[in-house]
Amino acid sequence: MACAPLEDSAEGVYVIEPGDVLLGFWRHAQSRVVLTLEGGRITKIEGGPDAYLLQAHLERAGDEGAFRLSHAGWGTDHRADWGHVGMDSESLYGTVLVAIGRNVFDAPAPYRGLGGSNDSVAHFDICCRNTSLYLDGELIIQNEKFMVDALG
Ligand SMILES: [Fe+2]
Repeated sequence: MACAPLEDSAEGVYVIEPGDVLLGFWRHAQSRVVLTLEGGRITKIEGGPDAYLLQAHLERAGDEGAFRLSHAGWGTDHRADWGHVGMDSESLYGTVLVAIGRNVFDAPAPYRGLGGSNDSVAHFDICCRNTSLYLDGELIIQNEKFMVDALG
């Protein structure tokens, strides 16, 4: 499940812990990364070596959109294997996925794609375990448990 936020609306701090998945690097994080979001944009990237690498990766895109929130969502599949980086990382039940960068994905089918205006060359998915997700102030997931039954 994924949804695209209003492009200038994301606010807060997103923490990536070792063992979470930096899908844009096709591997698990080895160090903590703390992203600060203001007005839909990442304004600060702090932490260990992975924070440095993520900052460098997004800067290399050479456009401002690389630092903007793209989409957020959650996994619903109990069968997914966290040790297998890829689609399983995006799918595992109760995990949270947040993506940075491009959000103009178009698809021929109706109601597909994100329909945004960010045409950055960068797109970076981040998949996290044991975290919480709020949408419009409502708690959706807490430590891999769905707090809204209809969404799990
Ligand atoms: Fe994505």
